Formats: sequence, C-alpha cells, structure tokens
Amino acid sequence: MANTIIVGAQWGDEGKGKVVDFLTEQADVIVRAQGGNNAGHTVISDGRKFVLHLIPSGILWPGKSCVIGNGVVLDPVSLVEEIRGLADQGIAVSPDQLRISERAHLTLPWHRGLDRLRETGLGSRRIGTTGRGIGPTYADKAQRTGLRTSALRQPVRLAALLNERLQENNRLLEAAGEPTIDIDTTCRAVLAAAAFLEPFLTDTTVYIHRQIEQGRRLLFEGAQGTYLDIDHGTYPFVTSSNTTAGGACTGSGVSPRRIDRVIGVCKAYTTRVGEGPFVTEDDSLSDRLHHMGREFGATTGRARRCGWLDLVLLRYAHMVNGFDALAVTNLDGLDELDRIQVCTAYDLDGVRLETPPSEVEDWERCTPCYEELPGWRTSLSDLTDIKQLPPRARAYLDFIASDLGTTISHVGIGPSREQTLVC
Ligand code: IMP
Repeated sequence: MANTIIVGAQWGDEGKGKVVDFLTEQADVIVRAQGGNNAGHTVISDGRKFVLHLIPSGILWPGKSCVIGNGVVLDPVSLVEEIRGLADQGIAVSPDQLRISERAHLTLPWHRGLDRLRETGLGSRRIGTTGRGIGPTYADKAQRTGLRTSALRQPVRLAALLNERLQENNRLLEAAGEPTIDIDTTCRAVLAAAAFLEPFLTDTTVYIHRQIEQGRRLLFEGAQGTYLDIDHGTYPFVTSSNTTAGGACTGSGVSPRRIDRVIGVCKAYTTRVGEGPFVTEDDSLSDRLHHMGREFGATTGRARRCGWLDLVLLRYAHMVNGFDALAVTNLDGLDELDRIQVCTAYDLDGVRLETPPSEVEDWERCTPCYEELPGWRTSLSDLTDIKQLPPRARAYLDFIASDLGTTISHVGIGPSREQTLVC
C-alpha cells in the first residue's frame, strides 16, 4: 500500500477508525496529525471493543509504529489514562510503538475551563463542543502563547507556568460563578503525566522521513470530518483544526508530494453531533437508528443527529480532499427501509445549489432536493463478499459513485473488522 490519507467526508464519526484498522495491515507507520482527544475511534478487534481518543488505532496491531504528529493537541493526563486503559485491556504501549512530536501543543486544565465558559457565554449559539479544551488550545497556538509538548521535559518551568495560569484561570472561573480548579492536585497530576510521557517524545517529522527513506508505508488517520474543518466546514460550528487531507501534511511535516492516495470515509447516511446546519436531518431516521442502538457518540455518549445521505456535502468534500476512493460505512443501517432518500442539491430561496454555501446563515436556510431510491429490505451483516450485495444495495452505491465520479473501495456492513467488504 502506498502512503495513504484517510479522511472523514462528513461531520466526523464516519467509521474512520474501522477503515484505518482494516488498512493498517498493509501499513507500517500510522500517524495522527490533527485534533486531540475530542476524537473517539471505536475499533472492534477479536470481539473486543476499544475506544481510542488520541492514540492511532494502529496500536492494536503488533509490530506497527504509531505517531502523534505536531498538528495534534494533547492533554497529557488524558493520554496517560488512555495508555493505562489500553494496558488494562492487554495492549502495552511503549516508546518503541508510540512516538509523540515535541512540537505538538498541550491541552491543560484551563483550556477545558475556558471551553466550558465560552460555550456557556454563547448561549443558544453555542457550538456544542466536546468540552475537551480543543478550541482554546489551538487559540493559544495561533496566538503564540501555547505550550508545546517539549515543555514536558522541563518540570520546573512547567510547574511554575501551571501555577501561574491556574491562578489566572481560577479568577476567571470565580468571576463566572463556576467551580475553581484545585491547583495542587492538578499540578501533581500534570507533572506525573509529564514524567510518564517524556520517553515518548521525539522529532516525529525526522522519524517519519527516515521511515519514508526506508520504503515504509504511511497511513494517516484523520480525525473528525471535512465539515468540521476550520476553513471548509460549517464555520463557526466546526472544530479548530484542518480536518481535510491537507491537514495531514501540515500536521506531520510530510510533503504533499509523498502522498500517494486519499481515501474518503462516509456513512451511507449522514450524522453530526453538536450544533450547526444539517440540511438532510430527519427525525424519523434518527429515531429509527437510535432505536437500533446506533449513533451514540464514542467520546461524549451524546445521541448523534441523523439524516439522509447528502451528495452536496460529498461533492465539495471530494473537491477539497481529492478522493481516490470512497469507503462507505454503516450500509447495514439502511437495511430495513422501503425507500431511501438521497439529497442531490440544495434549494436556497429558489436557487438550486450543487455545492454548499459559504455562509452558515445561508446554509441554515437551505432545504434538500431529494431523489428516492428503493431499499433492499434484507440484512447485509453476514455478507462476506461484495458480489453478494443485493442489486438494490449495489445500485445505491453506484448512484453515489457515479455522482461523485469516484470509485468505492470498501463497504462497511457491521461494527467488526470482518464486516468490511472490499470492492
Ligand atoms: P471541539 O472539537 O470539541 O471544539 O468541538 C467542535 C465541534 O466538533 C462540535 O460540534 C463537536 O461535536 C464536533 N466534534 C469534535 N470532535 C468530533 C468527533 O470526533 N466526531 C464528531 N464530532 C466531533
């Protein structure tokens, strides 16, 4: 397998973790290049369920090397908890398997506090963040007031900074009538995490380049999705990183010229968590999927908003990311339906749009133009070969591929690694 970027084509939660896990077999180095522990990648391996937030899912495979790149924001205490949680499930994580960039930025307790305060302050226009402090960490980075992971090597400097910033933050929290943070306990926890993580730190850009020189194959594990991208998404209802394919390069220090393939991942329908426009949102489809026990967030447990497949979104996502192929997941979520709607255009005040508007206020006023396709009304979960797909399910996939002018490489028909059909 050539160097490959996996990217979400919708609003995240497309099932990228499972696709990455599936493709890891043919990769040597698995890289996370943006986002933080706002992500939640669920992987079911050998009947066991793993939920990963920051560590690339390649960690579940022996002999693979994982990298957390410079574009990531990293909460040291949560990362240590994640490493320990994996150890409890029998997956040991050593500095030989996981390398963390010295240039990644630290999410510290005040970032979470600020995230919460900003959300409260926005009232009905809140973003619906995961509350993990992601926006405030990237804001510090862009303001050039952030702390990089290299600070984990300097406990004295780190302790002084923690004290100062926590006191400042507590004054803000007090003024807002919010509970304050216990400074001693917090400092101890962060410093303990710093000591634990120090051996994992390295210049990951140089490491990755040495791997490329030796002909080792890279797999970039995108987090979130195209419409949460800070530039291309439903701004301001987005996350604070570049979730699109270009973010994999800036967030790892790998040149675009070293990338061979981009695979987009989309669900066979659409979901989003948090606030913001969602043209094809449909309450009856949401109810049906929730009733089936599907579509609850891996990070926050929130019920996801659900709607029909939206080709307007996928078309623009294809432009921005340049998909060589699309992996369609959760096709089995539509198994029981008689009729399936697919949105082929938006109507904005009588004007037909083939791609989404730039302004969120326009986006919120768009209504969907649907084409209806017949459902297949049979369970797909036990299929083992793409050739076994019922003709109507095949026609549904062909409809998507022909609209976008791309091929479909994988089809997900259930949560486990084995329930992935290769086209
Ligand atoms: P933040 O990244 O926590 O700041 O949240 C900003 C927006 O991105 C909110 O709508 C979140 O629900 C959404 N978001 C962040 N991470 C994920 C994810 O991994 N899957 C789906 N939505 C996400």
